[in-house]
Amino acid sequence: MKDVNEFTITQAVKESFRTEDGSRIQLLLNKLIEHLHDYTREVNLTHEEWMGVLTFLYDCGKISTPDRHEFILLSDVLGFSALVDMINTRGGATEGSNLGPFYLDNAPDMQLGDHLADGRDGVTVLVHGKVTDTLRNPLPGAIVDTWQADSSGTYPIQEEGQDKYDLRGKFVANDKGEYYYTTVLPKPYTVPYDGPVGDLLRAGNRHAWRAAHLHYIIRAAGMNAITTEVFFENTEYLDNDAVFGVRRSLIAKLEPVKPTDTFDFDLKIKPDAKFKFDFVLAPQG
Ligand code: BEZ
Ligand code: FE
Repeated sequence: MKDVNEFTITQAVKESFRTEDGSRIQLLLNKLIEHLHDYTREVNLTHEEWMGVLTFLYDCGKISTPDRHEFILLSDVLGFSALVDMINTRGGATEGSNLGPFYLDNAPDMQLGDHLADGRDGVTVLVHGKVTDTLRNPLPGAIVDTWQADSSGTYPIQEEGQDKYDLRGKFVANDKGEYYYTTVLPKPYTVPYDGPVGDLLRAGNRHAWRAAHLHYIIRAAGMNAITTEVFFENTEYLDNDAVFGVRRSLIAKLEPVKPTDTFDFDLKIKPDAKFKFDFVLAPQG
């Protein structure tokens, strides 16, 4: 019989998994076990605390549905999602940021210059820029897939009676790699805080607000797709976004549009403001 104590148990558990030597799964499991055991020893976890953690995870599972993934939210507020984004950003490419829970993979195809927010109130804005590779060569045909909240901070998908495909669309960059469209500026909004993750935020005296942002997935043939967000200079919660999504390189400068301003782009409306944001993709491989 193998005797284990509070120190030798870590090695014993690692050895109990019969994974291939040097494999990725072996590394992932071994490190998980080491860090979990080290944490447990370091904080001297009590039975009550241990059961508290397990009940918390159980509650996260209980409130989750296909439309509400509480574990992703937990990962977000712990900075786990942001850390995975950070370590997977390729050198020279636009930094990655949260996917969030409101992405739909079949957003409507839009034409360059379209207005994404027909019939909606708010400050209208021209969004434009280029999609390039890391050497700044344009990527014609790149897909700019975007989704956003409205000017009150709500995603149409969150509201009964609204078209869930509103405020989202896919644009194709032109032969210079340019994209351009108009929309309304989104407002900050809260992540869902009526479940266990909300309890965690309250326990830590944290708020649930996200800085206002536009979501993007940018894809181009032969390049690594990026999932990211664009934020706006001098807006609320840039310093304390609830899911740690803000990076300096993802903050755009909004400029008012003057009555005398003209645009090289064919637009459907004359916007109140404008900003430019270039996306950079790294090659696959
Ligand atoms: C969002 O940006 O849409 C989002 C991100 C994390 C949690 C909830 C919402
Ligand atoms: Fe969002």
